[in-house]
Amino acid sequence: MTDRATFTRMEASTPDDWRKIGAEFAPFARQLPDRLMAHLKVLEGDYGGFPVDRYTHSLQTATRALKAGRDDEYVVCALFHDIGDTLGTFNHFDIAAAVLKPFVTEENLWMVQHHGIFQGYYFFHHIGLDRNLRDQFTGHAHFDRTAEFCDLYDNPAFDPKGETLPMSEFEPMVRRVFAQPRNSIYKAATNMNLADVPAGAVAPATAPAAVTA
Ligand SMILES: [Fe+2]
Ligand SMILES: [Fe+2]
Repeated sequence: MTDRATFTRMEASTPDDWRKIGAEFAPFARQLPDRLMAHLKVLEGDYGGFPVDRYTHSLQTATRALKAGRDDEYVVCALFHDIGDTLGTFNHFDIAAAVLKPFVTEENLWMVQHHGIFQGYYFFHHIGLDRNLRDQFTGHAHFDRTAEFCDLYDNPAFDPKGETLPMSEFEPMVRRVFAQPRNSIYKAATNMNLADVPAGAVAPATAPAAVTA
């Protein structure tokens, strides 16, 4: 059985407890890409009235970005931009942004977080909303980047006959992008390349503390 900490209140935890927890954290963190890809697949068969299901839309958006020569991080953002559809029914872009936040640049994060408003340019007028809601960000450093993302990749990715590469095409870049957090309040305790930690491996004594309090 796994060696477990014994405290009942976190304030009573000891360095030995955190050694045990830390040993579990590295392999758990390494499996984040697998959990994300599995969660995206939850969208398979979820049409919601759209011409393609949300999984196909996600893969098609990423396919378009990949074929356009975008870099790994951009393609991964395209792939996961709607991953929040299941839990964030009224703010799906915030869920995607939260997942990507530790691993991507500020401009890509802004793009993902605001794509919901920018994508509205293509349909908000059909549902009684202002299609120009994005104009509130006119002059923002990432306005053009986000408008371009919607124009070239998100907006056209509802085509049942459109090229849609399978997840296996994106898996290597998903693992690369999620190999090491850039920004995290736990970064100092997780200063390691998770891609180098074999699944199931027991972390060394200097293993990072777990980060789920
Ligand atoms: Fe979206
Ligand atoms: Fe989308």
